[in-house]
Amino acid sequence: MHTSAYWIGHFKANLLQKRINWDQQPNITQNEITTILHSLQAWQLGETSEGRQLIAAAEKYALKTGEPEFVEATRLFIKEEQKHGNNLGTYLDRISMPRIKKNWGDSLFRWVRHLNTSMESWTLAVIVVESTAQIFYQSLKDATGCGLLKEICTDILIDEAYHITYQTEHLAAIYYSKSAFSKNWRKPVYKCFFYCTSLLVWYANSGLFKAGGNTFEGYMNKMYLKYNKTIKKITSPLVMQLI
Ligand SMILES: [Fe+2]
Ligand SMILES: [Fe+2]
Repeated sequence: MHTSAYWIGHFKANLLQKRINWDQQPNITQNEITTILHSLQAWQLGETSEGRQLIAAAEKYALKTGEPEFVEATRLFIKEEQKHGNNLGTYLDRISMPRIKKNWGDSLFRWVRHLNTSMESWTLAVIVVESTAQIFYQSLKDATGCGLLKEICTDILIDEAYHITYQTEHLAAIYYSKSAFSKNWRKPVYKCFFYCTSLLVWYANSGLFKAGGNTFEGYMNKMYLKYNKTIKKITSPLVMQLI
């Protein structure tokens, strides 16, 4: 379990890492563009959120827990997501493809986030989406021979692994603060949300997942393993002792 000060240090140091060689030209084929474009545009839009609601939820949470550094850590986390959006956007510009302003999946996710401004629902939603993102960016990387796009994906994959740890620690702290009764009903709700979102992400990006070598069963199996790992960390008595 890490403190917000630790995560501020991590995000600041990570922001200085330059893992992408922007001097190289994209060498993506027309066939690859046809397969990945729709998903690439949708995720580029999803990664560019300003995160105003998340900041508002973080401010509320920081007041409640007396940990003001949490807001700064959240701001830096959002900045890292925006870096992903910028990099994907720059890539779209480089291959002369448009950035989009609207997508049903993105609109749905934004609407769900507007419904509830609690840190718990935010964190849960972020963990699920980031778990799907790990499979998504690995698929994107495997679906193209373009070196530049592969480097952009690798950079995102490195960031996302830390994001999941960061958000999982958070959800564990929130879960720990709940009563035994609250903990009991949360488990099936978390599970249901995790699987429903996983299904939606598959249907919105099945072409890309398949191009990256995934079958529906394979994808759901990976999500099942990710869910188990996450729920174990959140509900583990060991994690609770460390909070
Ligand atoms: Fe991201
Ligand atoms: Fe992320």
